[in-house]
Amino acid sequence: MSSIPPEPTMSLQQAFTPLRLGPVTLPNRFVKAGTYEGMNLNNGPTAALVRHHAELADSGVGMTTLGYTAVHPDGRTFEQETWIAPENVTRFRVLTDAVHAAGGKVSLQLGHCGTMTRTPTRSVRKPGGPSKTLNLYGAMVGALFTREMTVADMQAVTAQFVESARLAAEAGFDAIELHMGHGYLLSQFLSPLANRRTDAYGGSAAKRLRFPLEVTERVLEAVGDRIAVLAKLNLRDGTRAGVDIADSIMTAQALERAGLHGLVMTGGFSPYSPMYLFRGNSPVPSMLKTEQSGWNRFLLKLGAKTAFRDTPFEEMYFLKYALEMRAAVGLPLGLLGGLRSGTNIAEAMRSGFDFVVLGRPLLSQPDFVNRLRQDPAANSNCINCNRCVAEFSTPGGVRCVLNAPNDPALNARPAA
Ligand SMILES: Cc1cc2nc3c(=O)[nH]c(=O)nc-3n(C[C@H](O)[C@H](O)[C@H](O)COP(=O)(O)O)c2cc1C
Ligand code: SF4
Repeated sequence: MSSIPPEPTMSLQQAFTPLRLGPVTLPNRFVKAGTYEGMNLNNGPTAALVRHHAELADSGVGMTTLGYTAVHPDGRTFEQETWIAPENVTRFRVLTDAVHAAGGKVSLQLGHCGTMTRTPTRSVRKPGGPSKTLNLYGAMVGALFTREMTVADMQAVTAQFVESARLAAEAGFDAIELHMGHGYLLSQFLSPLANRRTDAYGGSAAKRLRFPLEVTERVLEAVGDRIAVLAKLNLRDGTRAGVDIADSIMTAQALERAGLHGLVMTGGFSPYSPMYLFRGNSPVPSMLKTEQSGWNRFLLKLGAKTAFRDTPFEEMYFLKYALEMRAAVGLPLGLLGGLRSGTNIAEAMRSGFDFVVLGRPLLSQPDFVNRLRQDPAANSNCINCNRCVAEFSTPGGVRCVLNAPNDPALNARPAA
């Protein structure tokens, strides 16, 4: 007698089927979300970064994503962040080769932080963003004021995105993910929280999306026939005056018309609503343990009382708005945010999302995908404590605190 698997199991099986994103086919629909690793040395990957991503591919993840990588040194939020440049392409190549040997695909998240910087070694005194504003984030490094970028500045940043995308293709990445969320530069342009311009790049939602769209068009022209070009976009900024779902649908529709290959849906604007992005416990108590500067500790404590407060965790916390996006666009969509079980993933597939994007569940259990393959009822063991957020500033790099510490020696060796 043949046994027909129950409906949720069949929906989960869909996540194990290949997915085409532009010129690339993923072996399955599980994508590791970019979670900044803190595994860079002399501006390039360490041996620990290679092992981290190869292990994910070896454990069944269809495509792993390197966390935030800047398109230029001025695009870094933290001093230790890396940027892609001709001199580190061979070290990135070591990493992409290792992931490919393990049977996975690998994406590079590319971003520019705009005004959201706490890097003391910037080449400019006042960081540039859409508008001249008071900049709470920059207070950490004495950059309390920002300057309004000129059109020439914007063209220069566009060229940095294009050059970084070319280098990513040369380094063997299968995809890039343009960061348009969380309050980074492209998200600053999209958001009325940061964009007060009155020229062709500010005002209405249609004008605010113009710069991110131009970047996407130029990047697609340069590499879109070789690698998948994805974007990570806020569904909502998570504050009353920020981007709401109607704005982000308009942006996604414009990106779809431009030929974008896939969209990862997120939310939250770090300086104002960081917990909208994560949910769960505030990471501030653990961040205070690794923060050296007294001034930054003071600012963090202030943040803990306002934006960085404990926030109730809910499974699939972006689903409501993601469904609105699903109804409005045809391009491949990745559901992210609080997916914690086979049941959640089956629901994502049944709801018409093309892929699922997991961050913390794959930090706590890098083999979570293989566990689901064996047991569709498997649940993540992540407790949403967010202590991993402080871990990327430790010598071993990012890890889940439920697991054994990383080996700092591996993170002190360049990838070779
Ligand atoms: C330790 C840590 C580092 C993160 N770093 C990044 C990052 O570099 N870029 C990014 O877009 N999001 C980053 N995020 C957010 C995740 O990509 C993801 O959006 C968020 O964790 C929600 O997904 P989850 O519920 O599956 O963890 C980070 C999250 C964590 C926990
Ligand atoms: S430290 Fe581990 S359990 Fe806590 S949120 Fe991060 S991945 Fe989950």
